Amino acid sequence: MGLPKGRLFETVSDLFEKGGMGFSFENRKLMAKDATGTLNIFLVKNADLPTYVNYGIAGLGICGEDVIYESGYRFYKLLSFPFGSTKMCLAAKKGYTLEDSRKQVKVATKFPRFTRTYFHAQGIPVEIIKLNGSVELGPITGLAPYIVDLVETGSTLKANNLEIIEELADIQVYMIANPSYYKLHYQEINRLTEWIKKELG
Ligand code: PRP
Repeated sequence: MGLPKGRLFETVSDLFEKGGMGFSFENRKLMAKDATGTLNIFLVKNADLPTYVNYGIAGLGICGEDVIYESGYRFYKLLSFPFGSTKMCLAAKKGYTLEDSRKQVKVATKFPRFTRTYFHAQGIPVEIIKLNGSVELGPITGLAPYIVDLVETGSTLKANNLEIIEELADIQVYMIANPSYYKLHYQEINRLTEWIKKELG
């Protein structure tokens, strides 16, 4: 199973620990086994997680719809988690709107595929500037007046004097499977997903 570094890690790790399938990564190691010896767990960068699952290196993975969609790969979604939900939003400096939508808009984002699809569907020409983080700097430094980014608490936007123009999508966290791996191991995987559902209550 591939697990993402970052925000989700602690929550997922606590869930497995609580159910007796705890794991820990020692000395910057990136692979670990859970306490029951059932799972080999790989610690990967969030945006790389779909790559590991697509190539069957990890049969399973836990990650957000944002990252799944950006990858362009197709997976089985086995369950959604009741944590880690966020919203994909269009945001800008206070007072900005998309009023004159015939003009090309410049958007900084970590999510170019989502952004392109959204603006094309609206018929609005878009120039996308791909960033890998700290996207909120875009409008305040003058790199791009608009951003498309995840908003969870809204505190990063607020701290940088930005506000939401429009909420574009709800983003949930899923357990995904490589379809071929699932077909070969569906009984064990179903047992695992039932166990996780029970742990989640
Ligand atoms: C995410 C997202 C926003 C922030 C939103 O970034 O891209 O910047 O969290 O959270 P909030 O609404 O609770 O403030 P992340 O912290 O993952 O870091 P990054 O900018 O380096 O990608």
